[in-house]
Parts: sequence; C-alpha cells; structure tokens
Amino acid sequence: MTIPATSHASAPAKFILFGEHAVVYGEPALAAPLQSIRAHATISASSAKDPSGLFITADDIYLRCLYGDLMPTHPIAATIRGVLQTIGSSQEPRAHLSLSSAIPVSAGLGSSAATSAAVAQALARFLHRELSANQVSDLVYEVEKLQHGIPSGIDNTVIAHEQTVFFTKTNKTEFLKLTRPLTFLIADSGERSSTKETVAGVRERYKREQKTYQAWFDDIGNITRAARTAVSHGDSELLGKLMLRNQELLEAIGVSCPSLDRLVKAALRAGVSGAKLSGSGAGGHIIAHVHPRQADHVVSRLRAAGARNVFLTELTANTHDS
Ligand code: MEV
Repeated sequence: MTIPATSHASAPAKFILFGEHAVVYGEPALAAPLQSIRAHATISASSAKDPSGLFITADDIYLRCLYGDLMPTHPIAATIRGVLQTIGSSQEPRAHLSLSSAIPVSAGLGSSAATSAAVAQALARFLHRELSANQVSDLVYEVEKLQHGIPSGIDNTVIAHEQTVFFTKTNKTEFLKLTRPLTFLIADSGERSSTKETVAGVRERYKREQKTYQAWFDDIGNITRAARTAVSHGDSELLGKLMLRNQELLEAIGVSCPSLDRLVKAALRAGVSGAKLSGSGAGGHIIAHVHPRQADHVVSRLRAAGARNVFLTELTANTHDS
C-alpha cells in the first residue's frame, strides 16, 4: 500500500439549542455545528530519522509522545485504536499526527468529540480509507464514554454529521430543514466545568427527587419538540420564548450559575427574543437568538456583563434530507 505524504481532517464545535441534560434521560435535544470553530488533525509520513510508530504533537494540551506511550484510556489513544479496529489494521502507521483546535475546552462546545472526530478521519484517510459520518459518530461515542460516563450521543452525532439535528437516544436522528436562516450569539462566561461532573450532579439530585426531576425533563422534552417546528419555520418569537422556558428549567435542575445567569439577563435586557445556557452548564457558554441588525448592540452588552468572547453564528436555510 502506498502511504500518502499527508492527510488532514477537521471537525466543528457544536452548540446545543434545546434539551441538554434531559436528553440523557431519553428526551429529545436540538443541536447544531459551529462550522467556523474547528479541531484539526494532520498526519504526515515520518522521515527515516524520526521515531518509529505514530508520534503525536498537540501543543494546545502540551502533548508530545508516541501513541504507544499513551494510556489506553487516553481519548486520542482510544480514537486511534478505534480507527485501526474499524478498518482492520493491526498496527499504527509510522507517521506524525499533529493536532490543533480553536474550540475552548470544558466549555460546552464539544471540544473532545471534535478532536476525536478529526483524528479519526485524518488517520483513516492516511490509511486510504474514508469513514462515513455514522462510522465517525459511533467511534467518537465510544471514546466519549471513556471520558463522560454515559453520554447521550448528541455531541458525536452533530459533530460527525455537521448538520442541525433533532436527536433522541433511541430514535433515528432527524436532520432539520430550515426554511429561514437563524442567527445566534454565543458568549463565553470564562468559567470552565466538567461535563462528567455536571451530568453526575444532575443524576444525584434526580435520584433524590425523582418525580420532580422527571417532570422537569418531560417539560424540557415538550419544549424541544415545539422548538423543532419553530427552528424549521424560522419562528423567532416562539423560539425565544422556548429558550427562556428551557433556561428556567435548566436553572431548576441546578446547572446554571451566576456568570451564566448574568449573561442571559444582559442579553434579554439588550432586547433579544431568547437566551439560555448551552451544553452541560456550570460555566461555559450561553446562546442568544438575535436579529442580525441587533447583533453589535447585544455583543457590547454581553461584553459589559463579563463575556470573555462572543461570536456570531448563523444556521442557514437549507434543504437537507435525513
Ligand atoms: C453535553 O454536551 C450535553 C449533555 O446533555 C450531556 C449529554 O448529552 O451526554 C449535558
């Protein structure tokens, strides 16, 4: 087999529009890719003087070592192993894997899943294979399980398919068609949290007060189902109301925090139709649905309320079929 000199793949960040946490309990969630913020993986053939095996450089996380020296549970090691198993290869190539990512870590934007997806596809391509989006998604899910306990599977799904999804753990994923573009601001609270711990905290409280939490999850599920129609039809007013109701329920289940609350309030005072935390919470990001002409004003209000970074993303109108 001729090994190519270089292969490259990238994968986007994601943001959850509706349904985080409740999705772990079987309710639906809506999420979309953040195409402009990505993780990248490049693999180049080693020269004769380089060490044998697959040498990994990920300067963002201060990682420089051989694949064989990583703990088997390390997400990058688990991804490489998963690819080799999927394509039926017994040994890693003698090459250099270089990783970089613009996705903030532990901030609810799916940085671990995106890195894993980029590594998986770059390695497969280096070995003359192209993984399908479903293969990437399944492989990343296995890696996510090592890090996050029992993830719902939404992060790997939206990141591998790079489409807006209506996702449940058990049903076939729906890829949403949007008749009108929708604009969102995504604001970083600057606080970081562990998805595994946040999900475990909800689980503990759920066990203590099962009836109450189940009712909140049911409500979030109903909001997300209504949001599917609002997103598809570009109904901004309804979308905003549903975001606010979802935020109230996320506060009730204990995953918001003062910095996120402050950003949500600032966005609302600046005139947006809806805002909520996005992802596992306890830090990370909020999203606000804006009209493009409001965006500059809302960005400055969010910055004044402490946002470290604010970026704009648009879900474009499309004709995707599932
Ligand atoms: C994390 O991006 C979303 C959560 O719902 C966890 C999960 O779905 O696995 C908090």
